[in-house]
Amino acid sequence: MNLTTDQDRLLSEIEALAQISDAEPPAVTRVVFTPTDLKARTWLREKCLQQDLAVRQDAVGNMFARWAGAGTDETAAPVATGSHIDAIPNAGKYDGVVGVLGGLEAIRALQHSGFRPTRSIELILFTSEEPTRFGIGCLGSRMLSGALTAEAARKLTDASGETLEHVRQKADMQGDLESVQLESGHFHAFVELHIEQGPLLERAHVPLGIVESIAAPASYQLIVEGTGGHAGGVLMPDRKDALCAAAEIILTIEEAALASGSLDTVATVGICDVFPAAVNSIPSRVRLTLDLRDTDLARRDKVFRAIENKSRAVSEKRSVSLQFQIVNADAPAICSSTVTDALVRCCSKHNLKFQQIVSRAYHDSLFMSRIAPTGMLFIPCRNGYSHRPDEFASPEDIARGTLILAEALAELSH
Ligand code: GLV
Ligand code: MN
Ligand code: MN
Repeated sequence: MNLTTDQDRLLSEIEALAQISDAEPPAVTRVVFTPTDLKARTWLREKCLQQDLAVRQDAVGNMFARWAGAGTDETAAPVATGSHIDAIPNAGKYDGVVGVLGGLEAIRALQHSGFRPTRSIELILFTSEEPTRFGIGCLGSRMLSGALTAEAARKLTDASGETLEHVRQKADMQGDLESVQLESGHFHAFVELHIEQGPLLERAHVPLGIVESIAAPASYQLIVEGTGGHAGGVLMPDRKDALCAAAEIILTIEEAALASGSLDTVATVGICDVFPAAVNSIPSRVRLTLDLRDTDLARRDKVFRAIENKSRAVSEKRSVSLQFQIVNADAPAICSSTVTDALVRCCSKHNLKFQQIVSRAYHDSLFMSRIAPTGMLFIPCRNGYSHRPDEFASPEDIARGTLILAEALAELSH
């Protein structure tokens, strides 16, 4: 079998998808179930149909595009690949998109080569890998794996108070959320192509990363309540300023992550909502988000306890109240040797250097690994930049990753 991918077509599709965005280029913003996201989904669906893939969508909007009839054994569990196309505000073009459009190009390469897989091959577009709208990452894959129940999903709301249930129905996602979960064994294997979102491959001058494990993310909301009042009238010693307390808590979080003893511990406060947000009013309430990750679950939990204790000490000292609400606390995933060994063989077949690597970002693979043997293939991205408009992966790296993905799909579906 001689596989060739069309690098120019793939790049022009990445560019075309980047135009479906709510941000000024080169930035990309595509938040789940906005008109822009729905337009991008329609665009992708068309591309899949042009390739004779059979497309279905589940109740939360996960899209499955199957190379139908290709599997010589229609009853065998399919092999799947895919990623997401939603993009956080002010993001780049490649996060998630390389896995979706690269997955489609990989299937095209297999179709054109005349390869006949035993198992069907499916491209998956996962809904809302990014937590932007509903506060929780990997919404689609989380539900597919059963890690998020339909009941819990129904309670999710966006910043304007709209429920997921309402938003998805408005977006014409049919069926009950109960029907989203898939059985373990539904897929024979899952493999996701993604940009590294870190600098290690580029620094090592290695074009491919075979992911061994995916770090464990957790996220929390912190609500700090103090006392508001007139910015002129209330004397400094009498204040219970919620934002000053929040500022101290943020530094405490940074300190706790730095003190963990490992570079694998990372903590980020990405949202700080101040109420009432008036220039001449003392902040009475602040909502912070905390994103805490580690490759080691016990160490992550220990850092969280340190953050909690130190933050409580700050709140007591400043006479404000503090609430921690857990959004999610996921366990890390170990990639399956079924997939990683296949990736190693495919790299060796093409004489390509690779490096075993840990994913410090989370991905839909984190949840797919709960129901299928799962692995990931990383390509470098410039300076490790991601979640910013200047995110960049070179055409050669994208094409190389896509070729190895195609080889791996061939091997796994054989
Ligand atoms: C995924 O986008 C992540 O935040 O790791
Ligand atoms: Mn992302
Ligand atoms: Mn991603």
